[in-house]
Amino acid sequence: MAILKIYEYPHPVLKKKAEPVAEVNDDLRKVLDDMLETMYEAPGVGLAAPQVGLSQRMVVIDAARDDEEPAPMYLINPEIIWRSEETEICEEGCLSVPEQNAEVERPASVRVRYTDYHGQAREILAEGFLAVVVQHELDHLDGILYIDRISKLKKSMLVKKLEKLRKNRSDAK
Ligand code: NI
Repeated sequence: MAILKIYEYPHPVLKKKAEPVAEVNDDLRKVLDDMLETMYEAPGVGLAAPQVGLSQRMVVIDAARDDEEPAPMYLINPEIIWRSEETEICEEGCLSVPEQNAEVERPASVRVRYTDYHGQAREILAEGFLAVVVQHELDHLDGILYIDRISKLKKSMLVKKLEKLRKNRSDAK
């Protein structure tokens, strides 16, 4: 397995609508394994293929808490087929927008249809924290970042902080 490079805002690959995955085979599983390892190493709770420069519709997620067993999920060609009317506000961050957070409002639960690691069709009802992670990751496949779901003012403040962080990092070198 290998750690992949994570692309950061405003890299254009993060703005692109990703292409459907044609076939689940060993080559694809190898990429998914690398994505999972990259996500754990970061560390993060979700990673979408565009974040590692691959414009394909697949994500890896592990929304287990620290005191729970690891629960890796691989969602290929995922599709939200139902959203609750009830919404929830949760603080989100993103490996492509390092060290920033903002509150985002989303449907509290969603039903998702996808193909799994073994090529089997599946459906899940995601609720609570998992619902947040699933929606955040699936947004990546449509070129949407969580900072596109907050007010323009909040987004511009956050991007300024990100630029400052990058400047400090390069000054420290
Ligand atoms: Ni993200």
